[in-house]
Amino acid sequence: MPDFEDRVAVVTGAGSGIGQEVAVEFAAAGARVVVGDVDEEGGRETVEQIESAGGEATFVDADVTDMAAVESMVETAVDEYGRLDFGVNNAGIGGDQKPTGEYTEEGWERVIDVNLNGVWRCTKAELERMAEQDGGGVVVNMASVLGLVGFGTASAYTAAKHGVVGLTKTAALEYAEQDVRVNAVCPGFVETPLLADAGITSDEEMREQIEGLHAMNRLGRPEEIADAVLWVCSDGASFVTGEEITVDGGYTSR
Ligand code: NAI
Repeated sequence: MPDFEDRVAVVTGAGSGIGQEVAVEFAAAGARVVVGDVDEEGGRETVEQIESAGGEATFVDADVTDMAAVESMVETAVDEYGRLDFGVNNAGIGGDQKPTGEYTEEGWERVIDVNLNGVWRCTKAELERMAEQDGGGVVVNMASVLGLVGFGTASAYTAAKHGVVGLTKTAALEYAEQDVRVNAVCPGFVETPLLADAGITSDEEMREQIEGLHAMNRLGRPEEIADAVLWVCSDGASFVTGEEITVDGGYTSR
């Protein structure tokens, strides 16, 4: 595990699943963590988990569809802990599952607003801060294998995640000389409440079908994604920027 003593991280969607695991691992590595989420109960549970293990964290009720809330989340990191080293833009929703032609405009826009515009809002606020401080920083955007390939009945999600990869590469080019690295992590399907809400893990047949899309014939675990996030934030990844880091049990190797 990297040593993140004296470092400060913001993690969005940190009240559940992958984001919760990322926040807990950051704290275990010594970082102080701002836990952002719209789910106050989940966010406070993450803070409790961190504090009971001897770490430091603060919950911020931050909806990534609200620019002012995102800015105030980044300010909290600076006000409480003095700086911002890592921004992990992870909050996301599954959205409607239906053929492209059957989406409503509202259903489409909701997924794009949370999963793409939300990542941009956070990236913007973090870059502004990191570019002006000594030592720069690292932004990690949570994309998906569906940011790299298509997937029937999830065109809004897939479009948003492809957008996240494009945004990541472009920001990486723009901020590389200011010591800010920007990368995307692209998980395969991971066992979290998001998959349960989409009915994937509760339906045995669907679960097996999804597992079979991965060469390892299983779903990922949140800690397997968190480990990749921590690595890309560490000095061990000091020459890595603009990458889509795929952690998918062989999904995209087929
Ligand atoms: P999850 O549903 O367990 O956690 C998502 C968290 O984001 C929740 O705590 C939720 O309250 C929060 N959130 C939702 N909308 C928000 C908003 N507008 N503002 C702030 N917070 C908000 O989901 P999971 O699986 O941990 O997903 C995390 C990220 O990983 C998402 O971006 C998802 O698209 C991505 N991902 C998940 C995969 C999976 O199979 N579980 C696969 C690939 C990517």
